[in-house]
Amino acid sequence: MTDSPGVLSAWQALHDHHRLAAGFNLRELFAAEPGRFERFSVPCGDILFDYSKHLATDDTLRLLLVLARQCALPEWIERLFRGERINTTENRAALHTALRSREPVTLDGRNVVADVENMRAAMRRFCAEVWSGTRRGGSDRAFSDVVNIGIGGSDLGPAFVCEALAPYARVQPRLHFVSNVDGAHLAGVLQELAPETTLFIVASKTFTTQETLANARMARAWIAAALGDSAAGRHFAAVTANPAAAREFGIGAEALFEFWDWVGGRFSLWSAVGLPIALAVGMEHFDELLSGAREMDQHFRSTPLGRNAPVLAGLLGVWYNNFFGAAAHAVLPYDQRLRRLPEYLQQLEMESNGKRIARDGTPVTRATAPVIFGAPGTNGQHAFYQLLHQGTRIVPADFIACCRSHHEFPRHHAMLLANFFAQTQALAMGKTATEVEVDLKAQGLDRAQIARALPHRVFPGDRPTTSILLPTLDPRALGALIAFYEHKTFVQSVMWNINAFDQWGVELGKELAGRLLPELEGDLPAAPRDASTNGLIAHFRKHR
Ligand code: F6P
Repeated sequence: MTDSPGVLSAWQALHDHHRLAAGFNLRELFAAEPGRFERFSVPCGDILFDYSKHLATDDTLRLLLVLARQCALPEWIERLFRGERINTTENRAALHTALRSREPVTLDGRNVVADVENMRAAMRRFCAEVWSGTRRGGSDRAFSDVVNIGIGGSDLGPAFVCEALAPYARVQPRLHFVSNVDGAHLAGVLQELAPETTLFIVASKTFTTQETLANARMARAWIAAALGDSAAGRHFAAVTANPAAAREFGIGAEALFEFWDWVGGRFSLWSAVGLPIALAVGMEHFDELLSGAREMDQHFRSTPLGRNAPVLAGLLGVWYNNFFGAAAHAVLPYDQRLRRLPEYLQQLEMESNGKRIARDGTPVTRATAPVIFGAPGTNGQHAFYQLLHQGTRIVPADFIACCRSHHEFPRHHAMLLANFFAQTQALAMGKTATEVEVDLKAQGLDRAQIARALPHRVFPGDRPTTSILLPTLDPRALGALIAFYEHKTFVQSVMWNINAFDQWGVELGKELAGRLLPELEGDLPAAPRDASTNGLIAHFRKHR
């Protein structure tokens, strides 16, 4: 049992309260509380977080805040920002906030913010050289295309942000991303490119990741085949916390960007892992991205828990996850450029909090991270929203949109936002049997027809959503949004008493794949293992 008596009593109080919550009705809550929208909405900078369409009353929030305090959330927030080694299984700090700090942050007696600034100065120089064409490839041509080779945190963040900030992108270089060890990914990207004008960034914190190294070696061979082996080095840069391995790969000191073990992979886009972002949109926009994240950091660190956007999001997530048994959480960006946000958050939340062992090494006693999924609105509406509206499960959802778009089709933007507001309204308020009956009568259906049709057309409502409105999708707002989710994830890890910053669950598959590979490449006899896996390997070998 990992709970202290205080924590246990806070969970128990919420369990008792949940019996009442089963009867919460959002129509009634809004009718009874005229100021509900204002009281349950939190502005943070220019971003509005509306929590009023949640199955929560003042009492619910009060009890969730008691739980947060019992779990020592304010102390944990301070420990995070102060750089304590809260990633205990790896004996590391989790100091992604230092990557965007303007104040000194000391770790082991060293001001790491000074190191970050030096790293950023090196990024700035490198970008200027690529843009001006003073950094050139083996055939003395400037680079028109940059390919980031990385996976997980060394891919998802930069790829997502580059797409989100496309309206801010320079004409050149064009950015491409290769992550999958499926050769089709690298081949598909390379077929569009010329070796003479292509620069590769190999991004890997460990510089041991199988997928990344396989793609990097193949990219190197592609350059060498076209321009000769001696030219290859000029076409590569690396971002890593393992500089020795990058040097061994042949990366020169002037193209090697280091980061540190206190930056978790899925929290790393603010470090030199963001080099593709800086190359694509410019350092001034990269700095703005950091400023937005810094503003969210300040909000998270200094705002009282009850008005703190990431804290409330985290606690409401716990409310559904642990009391309503909600096993999934939808992320629904009403913005095409945020298309990859769900995927980014899958790594952030599921790799961080998909854990079954508490910090003290004992099994957790309650459910941890839900499944994160999503798609951009309005596409999701025509795919899986049926289940959100009328399925048997409760799926809390985040709806995210921008008040102003970057494109020139104002009517599209109005239609998009009309769908956003309509969906959150429909999910919350539903459509009663009486309302359905009125509609069907107006359509001229007779009694028997109405009786048959009616149950299928009722919407139960009371499906909870958070609405997040950004002013526009600029670097600052995006930085704040991503930092919001980082902090929400941390809040939940504190409530669940787990370490959000390790990821041992990815190791076994890597290890087994490494052992299996020789059997697939050669004709080695099958190693002793389960009949299913060996049967599949035998089938593959026969049919390859
Ligand atoms: O999937 C596990 C993981 O370690 C992620 O946490 C990380 O972002 C990814 O692999 C890539 O690791 P690296 O940057 O070391 O190549």
